[in-house]
Amino acid sequence: SAAEKGGYRHFMLKEINEQPRAIRDTLRGRITEDGFHLDDISLDEGYIKGLKSIQIVACGTAYHAGLVAKEFYERYIKIPTVTDIASEFRYRDPLVDKNVLTIVISQSGETADTIAAIREAKSKGSKVFAITNVLGSTVARESDYVLYTWAGPEIAVASTKAYITQLAALYMLGGYIGLKRGTLDMKFVRELQAELTAIPDKVQKILDEQDRIQRIADEHYNVKDVFYLGRGLDYAVSMEGSLKLKEVSYIHSEAYPAGELKHGTLALVEDGTLIIAVATQKALYEKTLSNIEETKTRGGYIITVTKGDNEIFNDASDEMIMLPTASDYIMPIITVVPLQLLAYYMAVARGCDVDKPRNLAKSVTVE
Ligand code: G6P
Repeated sequence: SAAEKGGYRHFMLKEINEQPRAIRDTLRGRITEDGFHLDDISLDEGYIKGLKSIQIVACGTAYHAGLVAKEFYERYIKIPTVTDIASEFRYRDPLVDKNVLTIVISQSGETADTIAAIREAKSKGSKVFAITNVLGSTVARESDYVLYTWAGPEIAVASTKAYITQLAALYMLGGYIGLKRGTLDMKFVRELQAELTAIPDKVQKILDEQDRIQRIADEHYNVKDVFYLGRGLDYAVSMEGSLKLKEVSYIHSEAYPAGELKHGTLALVEDGTLIIAVATQKALYEKTLSNIEETKTRGGYIITVTKGDNEIFNDASDEMIMLPTASDYIMPIITVVPLQLLAYYMAVARGCDVDKPRNLAKSVTVE
């Protein structure tokens, strides 16, 4: 009913708009003077110090949250991290043991492949740390440690607020692990805390201006394909943007590492092909710009998503989505919001059943 949707036309739109609150609730009580309060989860300090790597396992959108975390953990926390799809992990005799922490991410806590991955990791002696949105779910019960996200019930099949809270949880866990291992100093941790705390207002700012995204969607909803380009963290978040679009609008889309385009996918770019270029990582601006130009030369229509403190993409782009600024490493948590909105409004313009896309289920409890 309309009341259940809080006045919104769809659950997906309601849940996108709930993201500032969902992040606040997930951070609540966990940011302290001396770091991140996860002591209730009782991860032993000696154990954290002795870890040789992290293995992240999940499906769908949760897997995409794991891809962002991999970039953040390796680059900033300095711990080798592998992110795997649960249905692959469980069948590849993975190299996990007692010195590898397995992190599973699951909104519902009931995804069959993810549960099987927990059992596989445990059978090899690995401890399992769950990030889940459902109290007492199978994933929560079967894991050694649990950090809950507080997104609240997510009804739309396409996950939005769960993803953003998974990222917040993964960043806090990374901060906690980095402090214990001595790979992060207090200066960085303070900055990370401030960046996380500032996210809800930045996300709200994007939500307040969603009319503009709707206008862009209304102009382009008839396209056949969409290519998302990015590097590093921008590539990781592009994967999620592309998944959102295909799930709800049924438009064919792919996310591609911008520099890899010329090795094949560029062949698909023709006059009018829609390109969403995600460029929020300063050190990669010039590199991504030249990839944007490669697609423009072939007739691509370029929508660039970047931070609001540069103009370097203006000439090469047909349309700009300027995001509130933040440190590079935190940007995926902000960038995903316009990508969700674009997918949503494109699907609405195409008359799709946004909350219940064909062939998909909210929780996949069979193999
Ligand atoms: C299904 C849903 C996706 C979700 C995935 C993993 O495919 O449609 O939105 O990302 O399952 O679900 P989980 O509950 O484990 O996060």
